[in-house]
Amino acid sequence: MPDLSGLRYLVKTFGCQMNLFDSELVCGLMEAAQAKRVEEVEDADIVIFMTCCVRENADTRVFGQIASMKNLPARSGSQLGTRLVAVGGCIGQRDGGKLIESFPNIDVVFGTHNIEELPELLAQAIACAKPQLSLIDDRVPYDSSFPTVRESRFQAWLPIMKGCNNFCSYCIVPYVRGREMSRPMEEVVADARALVDDGVREITLLGQNVNSYGRDIYGNPRFAKLLRAVGKTGIERLRFLTSHPKDLTDETIEAMATVESIMPFLHLPVQSGSNKVLADMNRRYTASHYLGIIDKLKAAVPGIAFSTDIIVGYPTETEADFLDTMAIVDEVGYSQAFTFIYSKRAGTPAAEMENVSTREEIQDRFDRLVEVVQRGAYDANQVDRGKVVKVLVEGLSKRDDSKLSGRSEKNQTVHFDCPEGIEPEQMVGRIVEVRVDLARTWYLSGELVGQPW
Ligand code: SAH
Ligand code: SF4
Ligand code: F3S
Repeated sequence: MPDLSGLRYLVKTFGCQMNLFDSELVCGLMEAAQAKRVEEVEDADIVIFMTCCVRENADTRVFGQIASMKNLPARSGSQLGTRLVAVGGCIGQRDGGKLIESFPNIDVVFGTHNIEELPELLAQAIACAKPQLSLIDDRVPYDSSFPTVRESRFQAWLPIMKGCNNFCSYCIVPYVRGREMSRPMEEVVADARALVDDGVREITLLGQNVNSYGRDIYGNPRFAKLLRAVGKTGIERLRFLTSHPKDLTDETIEAMATVESIMPFLHLPVQSGSNKVLADMNRRYTASHYLGIIDKLKAAVPGIAFSTDIIVGYPTETEADFLDTMAIVDEVGYSQAFTFIYSKRAGTPAAEMENVSTREEIQDRFDRLVEVVQRGAYDANQVDRGKVVKVLVEGLSKRDDSKLSGRSEKNQTVHFDCPEGIEPEQMVGRIVEVRVDLARTWYLSGELVGQPW
């Protein structure tokens, strides 16, 4: 490990949970190289961008921020006399050397498969004052021996696989994250056990399509078995992201119903409610298959809440297709939905297609969808009014710092007052009971009941 002592670094993370985890790995590596983490650009000798390119606005944001770095003077007291810029994550993997041509202020570009090289690349960039580029293509399994620095003491991301084999026709992810590669089950379970021993109360298993976990190494998917095995480690709350409806099995539904620590919540991206658009997207399920899974889950896991991802304005989407999407949103009753306007990604099959709808039509659909999603989320939350919900306290509320906030089992944000005489910090990381008196679209609020511990 090179010696970067005396240097201060900042990590800026964009995109999905995969990048959040990768950033924890980056921090682990930088700490092992003796660098010190800071929170403000002005205090940093090295700014590391962990980038996302899933939609065009993700690109634009990152490019704007990289460019703005060159106008900032070096940190006062800096031993380097300059500020290094490193770009990793999905844009690093996609654009490689083109980034250095477009942004001469970049010092290091690395990809999604060689994060562990970062300290060495930084050391080289410092030693020879020349930009360093290192990318590799696929086929590098996770090496669990690398250190990570967790953002939270009591919640943890746990990657179970990388990559994606699905090639949904709009999506760049398989091109920047490579093919599916599962980690051996014993390794994941050992990590989960170590996290529990370290005081972690909630684990979220991560993969682009967790339901196909194990297919590449065991010949058939083993996700349900993995859930049961991780459930036995003593973890209190278990979640997972992301599920693909085509691979979600009855065995997994059964595990969700029987493994006590699995939370009654599922993020199940639908993308569209139209069978034609789903086929064009290469999603490989129909709306009725999707609704069949939802029904089974509602029956197996009482009170389960759902969230989803939806794309509006896919090139072949007509008004009639969009109305199918509105209908499915209405039918499921999502407690949360992430809505996106389709964004052309060079290199994907859909990027070659002309859109049958105008920008105005698409914007109008998007606005109508957001309204239905918000109404649905509001309605879905009303069932909890008057109920007592279990909340894992995450910290002070961002809206009102006289309140604490956390997550219910159904993943709702819940706000409540800190009891008198207790320091808010003492509450963080605890699981408490809150009686809900107000249920809004995006949060619940209420009062603590009983003793907080
Ligand atoms: N593996 C996950 C997450 C993929 S990216 C999954 O399959 O669901 C997260 C979301 O971004 C996707 O679910 C999709 O709704 C959205 N997305 C991906 N590519 C997009 C594009 N080109 N335009 C708009 N939204 C997109
Ligand atoms: Fe993209 Fe589809 Fe893979 Fe999800 S399953 S990452 S949307 S290609
Ligand atoms: Fe973005 Fe890469 Fe995740 S493109 S959504 S950070 S896998």
